[in-house]
Formats: sequence, C-alpha cells, structure tokens
Amino acid sequence: VASDAPDEEVLNEAVRRVHDAHPLWDWSGIYLMKGGVLVLGPRTAPADHDRIEVGDGVCGTAVSEDKNQVVEDVREVENYLACSIHTRSEIVVLIRHEGEIVGEFDIDSDTVGAFSSADEALLEELGEVIAPRVASLAGA
Ligand code: SME
Repeated sequence: VASDAPDEEVLNEAVRRVHDAHPLWDWSGIYLMKGGVLVLGPRTAPADHDRIEVGDGVCGTAVSEDKNQVVEDVREVENYLACSIHTRSEIVVLIRHEGEIVGEFDIDSDTVGAFSSADEALLEELGEVIAPRVASLAGA
C-alpha cells in the first residue's frame, strides 16, 4: 500500500497483515473512538457489535479503565459481549494519539490463552505507527 493511500485502505492492510501472521487469531479489528462511542472500523470480517459504549464489554472496559485488556478465557468475564460463540480469548490494546484514546485493537481467538505480552507489545508498537491515521479516520 502506498503511503499516500487513503487511511482506511492502509489500516485495513495493517489489520489484515498482522492477523495473517498469527495463526491463533480468528478475528481482528480496530474500533474507532467516535463521539465518545467505540465504532467498528477496519476488520478482517463483520462483527455483531459495531457500536460499543464506554464501560461495556472488554472493549469498553479498556477505555473506562484506560488499560489494555488480556482475557485468558472469555467465559470467566461477566461483562463480555460475544461476537462469536467460538471465541475463547481476547486482547484489546488502546491506540493513543496526542495523549487521547483514538481507538483500539480488538483481537479474538477460538483458543484459550492465545495472547501473550509479546502480542500486546507488538500491537502497542503498531498502534503508535498508525495512530495518526486512526485519529483521522475517527475524525478526532
Ligand atoms: N468481545 C468484545 C466485543 C467485540 S467482538 O469481540 C468483535 C467485548 O466484550 O467488548
């Protein structure tokens, strides 16, 4: 993808590449922080929850707690929003631009405990690189 390509195209490609590099990742996406609500943006497949309020589910909890979330087994989380009955573990990594949360990565796996601190570190680094484009797509 050329560096002058539209933000959406670049972010789709980034999500697709990092997803394809990880065999245990079964759904990958970026939620954009739009007007105080998480709105589904680039993703590898459609999902049931395309708008998530702050505080709801694993995704909304990351924002309300200002903290990445790594869930070993989603069956143990009360405040979980299921997108697929097969999902077992999930990671949410916040994306910040100029000190503000502009979005987050959300990755689901059908395997328990699929996500490590190395995955979190990788997504944090990628998030820093793409943050300006996420901010612009979110309209921040
Ligand atoms: N499981 C998420 C909802 C998003 S879907 O996984 C794509 C949550 O609990 O916030």
